[in-house]
Amino acid sequence: MTTLPSTERLLLGPGPSPVAPRVLRAMAAPVLGHLDPDLLALMDETRERLQRLFRAPQGSLCLAVSGTGTSGLEAVVANLVQEGTRVLAVVTGYFGERLAQVCARYGGYVRRLDVEWGRACDPQAVREALARERADIVCVVHAETSTGVRNPVEDVARVAHQAGAIVLVDAVTSLGAHPVEVGAWGLDAVYSCTQKGIGAPSGLAPVAFTRPALLHRVACRSFSFDLALLEDYWLRRKYHHTISAPLVYALREALAAIDEEGLEARWQRHERHHRALVAGLEAMGLGLLPPAGERLWTLNAVRVPDGVDEVRARRELLERFNIEIGSGLGPLAGRIWRVGLMGAGSTPQTVLLLLGALEAVLRSQGCRVPEGAGTAAAIGALS
Ligand SMILES: Cc1ncc(COP(=O)(O)O)c(C=O)c1O
Repeated sequence: MTTLPSTERLLLGPGPSPVAPRVLRAMAAPVLGHLDPDLLALMDETRERLQRLFRAPQGSLCLAVSGTGTSGLEAVVANLVQEGTRVLAVVTGYFGERLAQVCARYGGYVRRLDVEWGRACDPQAVREALARERADIVCVVHAETSTGVRNPVEDVARVAHQAGAIVLVDAVTSLGAHPVEVGAWGLDAVYSCTQKGIGAPSGLAPVAFTRPALLHRVACRSFSFDLALLEDYWLRRKYHHTISAPLVYALREALAAIDEEGLEARWQRHERHHRALVAGLEAMGLGLLPPAGERLWTLNAVRVPDGVDEVRARRELLERFNIEIGSGLGPLAGRIWRVGLMGAGSTPQTVLLLLGALEAVLRSQGCRVPEGAGTAAAIGALS
């Protein structure tokens, strides 16, 4: 017979991130019906908090779609892309690829701007691509989880608007941890997830549609993701689907924790611990895939040293130290580890634990790692 987990894994992979006890406790509150006035009041509060988290301007529609980040992606695409919509898809990794594919599934005429995996896109290349052929929509992933790269979505949005296109952004691995300024940066439609920077379990997908995006809405082919029907439910209390009350509690509690911490303080926390981790990794002789300046604070793509069995190292981290990290995807399989420091997982303790455990794991494979150098460098960076 299988059993429920009895020990907590330290979730330092590409997501989910660790869930704080207060968020777990919130999920244990009594389950309410999906049209109960008390649940609807919590959903109203959640919408307001999401609007603040996205920094979305007045007139935007922010809510959480039932499902994971992929449902957020599909909800945004399903309401903006139809047969013949001209899409320029900036593809810098696995999740840019997924976004391009879903746009094509909804009938979009998709042109790709492919960028080497491990590098950020160049807004000038986006400008040139739009000059060669017009587009209605430019889509881009802000935090490319497969490569650890942060794309300059603010600049991409400017270029897109100059060329008369709206911009659709994946903020799955950035929202709640990196600045995401929907209003100031002019991001028109954005989707995210709950299980990374926000710090709740997966199961709801925050989305933001600004006024320009709402004006570009198409006849939505999907029933589950039809924004008009979702709006009827969230705003006008008309039944559409049976939302999970415990997931609403979790999201609302995680958003309350973010408001208490303060968004800027939270961004700084993520940056500080990313820098400490990088200092430690470098002192151990390990490098990151993206160049400095293009790196995420949430997801560190660490190059696997020559001669190291990366699968064995990950298994040992899990079995000996109870730590989860991720493997590389697609062409990066076997070449990188993906170490996430997100939400409740971005702390000095997690950085030091990971560095200490990684040192032990690398040594067990005969790798020469200077003793204690990683943790010492991280402690130095933290102070
Ligand atoms: C950038 C990005 N987009 C989309 C997704 C898909 O999200 P989910 O796995 O929650 O469906 C992920 C998942 O890690 C992601 O990292």
